[in-house]
Amino acid sequence: MTSPIAKAVASIESRTERRCDVALVLGSGLGSVADELGDACSIPYEDIEGFPVATTAGHAGRLLLGDWCGRRVAVLQGRMHLYEGWRASDIALPVRVLRGLGASQLVVTNAAGALNPDFRPGQIMLIEDHLNFTGTDPLIGPNDDAIGLRFPDMSRAYDPALRQLAKSVLDKHGIEFGTGIYAGVTGPSLETSAERRYYRMAGADAIGMSTVLEVIAAVHAGMRVLGFSAITNMATGDADQQPDTIEDVHRVAVVAGKTLRKALETLLPEMAAKDGNST
Ligand code: HPA
Repeated sequence: MTSPIAKAVASIESRTERRCDVALVLGSGLGSVADELGDACSIPYEDIEGFPVATTAGHAGRLLLGDWCGRRVAVLQGRMHLYEGWRASDIALPVRVLRGLGASQLVVTNAAGALNPDFRPGQIMLIEDHLNFTGTDPLIGPNDDAIGLRFPDMSRAYDPALRQLAKSVLDKHGIEFGTGIYAGVTGPSLETSAERRYYRMAGADAIGMSTVLEVIAAVHAGMRVLGFSAITNMATGDADQQPDTIEDVHRVAVVAGKTLRKALETLLPEMAAKDGNST
């Protein structure tokens, strides 16, 4: 029996000969970050066999394969979320397909609320680590030993060498960024103020409804991960907590997206030296 990953890879390969070394997942409102991919092949998710189709506003729902900043890049414009009703394994599939297309590095991006009061909307945060508060894991169920280990190590989920590189390259180019820990929750309701204070106490700096399951799947599959949050709203749960709207989140994501784009344009070429495919 052909696996869902092999089927999806085959349906992509029937449309393009393009492969990739690095893959990007673009979060809410961040879809335009990679709009200018050179000579890109664009494949709507519905044309990829077995691919879950993203339903969230602000998520285009297509795979781009092209050249960006001198790298062979695959971009998932639009991702799947637990709150849409997808299972954790559905969310893992596109990441595994990216691996199947050759990507050894994965850059995940998301829109996130700031639990850390020092952050400001419009900023970007380099993700140092995550807390998975979704209550699930994409690796639940039989393990495919061809992909990775039954009990994969997660102590360095966000690759230390890539994080170090990101810090020095962004500093060198004067691109402002924060660093911190991302808490992943299911949504779709936003957190109560008490919950936000709790997540902060647990050690998180930013919070959102994505990313953690994709990163687990990527690390399991042997990919090196780098992550950025676009801080879209203050989510401290303190006395001055303002109500949040998704419109504000998307509007501010576009602002932070500009910094994110600059960061990626400076980083991607430098990341080539740490690419398992080229060493
Ligand atoms: N909470 C959860 N997810 C989010 C937030 C938030 O405050 N902002 C953007 N995504």
